[in-house]
Amino acid sequence: MKNMYSEKVIEHYKHPHNRGKMENPDGIGEAGAPCGDFTTVFIKVGEKDGKKFLERVMFETVGCIAAVATASLVTEVAEGKTLEEAEKMGKDEILEDLGGLPEIKMHCSALATDALREAIKNYKTKVKE
Ligand code: FES
Repeated sequence: MKNMYSEKVIEHYKHPHNRGKMENPDGIGEAGAPCGDFTTVFIKVGEKDGKKFLERVMFETVGCIAAVATASLVTEVAEGKTLEEAEKMGKDEILEDLGGLPEIKMHCSALATDALREAIKNYKTKVKE
């Protein structure tokens, strides 16, 4: 069982990538944890070779070290992916990339990928209107 944060987790927490509110996003998604914390993800969607992809991904988190670090990495990894690829992103690949999290912090790692899926869903709803 892991009790400590990896160096990569600490680094992403101290210097989060893509943190902040996006002006005029194409989609917004939010996900909450049982502890009451939450993450909001903002996306800008582009088109390349007839496929929609994530041109820009940003986040805001009211949460712990684990929630901030996973959101930072999720936004970084998601940029450039097609919407289909991004929808399939799971917390396990992010956890592996971060070098794991303490057992008690596992639920925090799902916030960013859940919020990203919600943002894509929000975008698709808007496009249909
Ligand atoms: S998100 Fe609340 S404890 Fe981690």
